[in-house]
Amino acid sequence: MRRLRASASLRGLVRETQLSPARLVLPLFIAESGPARAPIAALPGVARLSLAAAAEEAAEAGSLGIAAVMLFGVPTEKDEQGSSAWDPDGVVQLAVAAIKRAAPQLLVITDVCLCEYTSHGHCGVLREDGAVDNDATLELLARTAVSHARAGADIVAPSDMMDGRVGAIRSELDGEGFDETPILAYSAKFASAFFGPFRDAAGSAPAFGDRRGYQMDPANGSEAVREALLDVSEGADMIMVKPALAYGDVIAAVKQQTRLPVAAYNVSGEYAMVKAASSAGALEERAAVLEILLSLHRAGADAIISYHAKDAARWLAEER
Ligand code: PBG
Ligand code: ZN
Repeated sequence: MRRLRASASLRGLVRETQLSPARLVLPLFIAESGPARAPIAALPGVARLSLAAAAEEAAEAGSLGIAAVMLFGVPTEKDEQGSSAWDPDGVVQLAVAAIKRAAPQLLVITDVCLCEYTSHGHCGVLREDGAVDNDATLELLARTAVSHARAGADIVAPSDMMDGRVGAIRSELDGEGFDETPILAYSAKFASAFFGPFRDAAGSAPAFGDRRGYQMDPANGSEAVREALLDVSEGADMIMVKPALAYGDVIAAVKQQTRLPVAAYNVSGEYAMVKAASSAGALEERAAVLEILLSLHRAGADAIISYHAKDAARWLAEER
């Protein structure tokens, strides 16, 4: 195929995959209290934002052509149940409204989970013995998703990995008149070492134990497809694979077998790794980031959630 590589225009003519800011989603951490921008040490260039700063950041993302923001709340109050997750005046609910006012065209996706809101840091409520109570958690997740939709969220994204949550959320949304709100299901979320910086940023590290009781074993690819198909049968509109970089095979398999839109989450540890290597002079950041994002799209991801989204959108614009 060397004949088709001889010039930039030939390469462009036969290129199979094209990245665009319209496929990118920027995650935002919104803090209920604290300064306008509190830098996150483990994620250089990323900060926890106040409501006003989040609205500004979202407007900037929109002006760069980024499709959506994905919101994570950092509440001041936590309890056993994670009740601030479904508070109509909770941090995410207020942020959705503020962002919708500042950037009406931008899509707002909300992460639906309890770990940022529970005092113990697990993604669901606990039984007496300290294990997560799957079924008792479903109702709370559904309530949280409805409160996000009511605040104006365009898409809700449950990331808890409880069994049956997509069905529970779908029926609660439908019952409350939000039958047009899509669900982006984190179907294949692996118990990963790459979430470390996120847990610092969101203050959501489990106080004891780990998440291997509900997140997937990184050894299992077929199980990821099975989880995705199950979520499809419960009404998922889009499927998420997370993390992304070490899971290209899973992205491809899920895309092939569900034929639904697939999102890949280029997570905090993946971002931190590129940042550290670039600042040490080991990687050229721009080229590395664009290659990573392109590879996720090539693997089958329609949408890519990345902390690099703003830089990537600027670089892509320059390439035109
Ligand atoms: C929790 C959640 C996690 C992330 C998003 N929501 C991970 C976890 O602590 O299990 C990770 C995102 C990232 O690392 O960027 N439901
Ligand atoms: Zn969680």
